[in-house]
Amino acid sequence: MKKAVIVMGTRPEIIKLSPVVDTLGAYFDTIIVHTGQHYSYNLDKIFFEEFELPQPDYNLDVGSGSHAQEVGKMLMGIEKILKTECPNVVLVQGDTNSTLAGALAASKLGMNIGHVEAGLRSYDRRMPEEINRVITDHISDFLFAPTELQKKILLKEGIPKEKIYMTGNTIVDAIFKNLKISNKKSRILETLSLKRQNYFLLTLHRPENVDVKNKLERILKGLSSVKDNYRSPIIFPIHPRTRKMREKFSLEYPKGIEVIEPVSFLDFLQLEANARLIFTDSGGIQEESCILKIPCVTLRENTERPETLNVGSNILAGTKPEKILSSTSEMLSKPLQYENPFGDGKASERIARICGENLE
Ligand code: UD1
Ligand code: UDP
Repeated sequence: MKKAVIVMGTRPEIIKLSPVVDTLGAYFDTIIVHTGQHYSYNLDKIFFEEFELPQPDYNLDVGSGSHAQEVGKMLMGIEKILKTECPNVVLVQGDTNSTLAGALAASKLGMNIGHVEAGLRSYDRRMPEEINRVITDHISDFLFAPTELQKKILLKEGIPKEKIYMTGNTIVDAIFKNLKISNKKSRILETLSLKRQNYFLLTLHRPENVDVKNKLERILKGLSSVKDNYRSPIIFPIHPRTRKMREKFSLEYPKGIEVIEPVSFLDFLQLEANARLIFTDSGGIQEESCILKIPCVTLRENTERPETLNVGSNILAGTKPEKILSSTSEMLSKPLQYENPFGDGKASERIARICGENLE
């Protein structure tokens, strides 16, 4: 049987590749390489357990560090594994340091690379993710674009059309598969004593927001005024980067922001699907709120997910308190009616089939 290596390392990659691990099995012997970029239980193992994924065949345990340290350690570890395993294809997802390292290691060995979620662009080169995406796209052999928009971007950048496949985004597959289970199994609303549509959900982890004291302060100030105006609590499953920076800056959380540990995907889906509105600077959560038809206020100046703006599920508020409040009001006052732009839930099937049928 043909062999595929899947490289993953962070929470969103595990979530978005989980349906691909399931479908690849029909065509490939699948080897999972975990870089260890995320290692805390509720950013990592919790998802393997929840999705019943096979344990990684390799874990490089690179842990946290500077970008060069992370990517450097990953490159050396992945190269060694690829030389041993000699796969027909190496699959990476998204735009993290693990994505870049997986693609670069495979490229140096002349192996086929499949990039899941190709062609996203924020056009903001200060974001490490933008560099990771651009490089990964330009060294990949199979580019799995979630929507027509990314296909156009890739063509415009000179990538041959034979390499680009419009598949949909695998997050739709993950949501379709897990939402019913979440509705049945998750007790998170009861545990946190939350009423449906009577709380806001918040996530925050982009370095440009949380590593800069006055920006983090400004965002918290804006959210505090949202709480004062709308009298609904703001539930905040906090990313470890943000926890670390808040402690470093000795910032207090405003009253009404309820900080909790990061939760499992099934619990997070419940929190998203029943929220009045979601505040986020995450990439994936802009998509999920759009798919679930929950209004989203993005605490950034740009987005690589313009589909969400086009259908009206999302607004870019940036980090100014007044803009956060006015964006909340705008998003709460309009109905959301559109067809989910991210696909039909069959992206992972397509990705597996395309790799399976096109590789010797
Ligand atoms: C990374 C990705 C980002 C993605 C995010 C998903 C890059 C450049 N960034 O950002 O694109 O959106 O993951 O969540 O690849 N930490 C822990 N436990 C962990 C992991 C991290 O405590 O399991 C803490 C460490 O203090 C670490 C910090 O979080 O220094 C940042 O981790 P890192 O993986 O470097 O970047 P993320 O902000 O998680
Ligand atoms: N998520 C989760 N538990 C949480 C917060 C987020 O399962 O407490 C999931 C969320 O549903 C989405 C993914 O994590 O699928 C988003 O990850 P993150 O925001 O860290 O990364 P990004 O998408 O910005 O790269």
